[in-house]
Amino acid sequence: MPQKMKISAPRGTRDLLPEEAPAWERVEAVVRDLSARYAFERIETPIFERIDLFARGLGESSDAVEKEMFRVAGAKGSEEEGSEWALRPEPTAGIVRAYIEHGMHVRPSPLRLWMMGPMFRYARPQAGRYRQFTQWDVEVIGDPGPMVDAELIELAHRFYARVGLRGVVAQLNSIGDATCRPRYREALLAYFTPLAGRLSADSQRRLQVNPLRILDDKELDPELAAGAPKSLDYLCDACRAHFDGLRELLDRLELRYAINHRLVRGLDYYTRSTVEFYVTGREGQQDALGGGGRYDGLIEVLGGQPAPAIGFGLGIDRTVIAAQAQGGRAEPEPSVVAVVSASPEAFAGRLRIATALRDAGVPVRVDGLSRKLGRQLESAVKAGARWALILNDAEGERLTLRDLVSGEQRELALDEVPAALST
Ligand code: HAM
Repeated sequence: MPQKMKISAPRGTRDLLPEEAPAWERVEAVVRDLSARYAFERIETPIFERIDLFARGLGESSDAVEKEMFRVAGAKGSEEEGSEWALRPEPTAGIVRAYIEHGMHVRPSPLRLWMMGPMFRYARPQAGRYRQFTQWDVEVIGDPGPMVDAELIELAHRFYARVGLRGVVAQLNSIGDATCRPRYREALLAYFTPLAGRLSADSQRRLQVNPLRILDDKELDPELAAGAPKSLDYLCDACRAHFDGLRELLDRLELRYAINHRLVRGLDYYTRSTVEFYVTGREGQQDALGGGGRYDGLIEVLGGQPAPAIGFGLGIDRTVIAAQAQGGRAEPEPSVVAVVSASPEAFAGRLRIATALRDAGVPVRVDGLSRKLGRQLESAVKAGARWALILNDAEGERLTLRDLVSGEQRELALDEVPAALST
């Protein structure tokens, strides 16, 4: 006999249980609706990609590459032994890879793409931080902004409002581009080098590689952070005009935002606008509900023809959790009808009536257990059904519809049932 063994889900992953599914489905429905309304086209890329794509795209010094990569190796003895892939930590690099690979630059520009799916980061799990999580991602390639930057911030606000989250604020910064960033980098280096002893081990390492990342180190002494040079003071004229233009558009749309000088984002591909969304009062790093920004240089880095681009990844797990914590008013669920019968054995009749109701678009619950009517009704109530449709005879020639909340009931014909449910 094989030994009995209890296996649990991998650390940092979660099962979506039936009771949580309606909340997810509501958010997914909003995602699909908004993607269509804002004229995004769907794209799907593989869940794993060549590891170099992420190393080159996100940067060797990003946490996602340096510490959090889920590696997948080619099988020993196979042709692909020695090849390495990684489960995608984020969608942007894969989408840009697909854009280049399929020559999508010849399509009408700007190109607007969306995707929703699981991402993987091998980080230490904690509240709201998982090793597998879901993002809704939107990308616009070929639009230099700033109008599209404002449009995407407006889209994110609309998304949070639609899923019932209140008090979401956008944090905003601009980290310049290839023209002005080097000067800012030098200024940070000059500031932090003499203070290296007061930096975390991670930040000391980043000092040479990417000193901007020191600013989003949670362990950074707030006093040092406050005194650090600010990217906005180093913008070149073009980046300054872009940022001012974005702020003006946000003001015109009456969208709330806060400037955050430390918002440099964890991935190396960003230029100019960087954005993160938080519920006011919950601005801790791991609570970002979503984030993104402009990446005008990434396509060229990955071997494509240069094109300006911007995108956001909105975390679905954190959005669902935050909406539930606020007790956001859920839209009413469709009322389920349990099809039951006076005779415990009326299987064919129950199944036939259930099928006819499903044809008419009614959500139906039916089972094949042989139980007395009282037990069938009890079980329907426990399962959350709103109505019971009782077959009074084996074939369901005579039907009774019972309101399981009020207990009221009446006899009716099958074709009267759908209308009776909406009254
Ligand atoms: P990101 O800020 O790394 O950006 O992730 C976007 C969102 O995904 C976060 O704000 C958060 O809500 C969610 N998220 C990230 N890591 C976790 C985790 N371990 N557990 C739960 N939720 C998580 C990106 O991924 C960029 N690709 C966004 C982007 C698109 N930039 C340009 N285009």
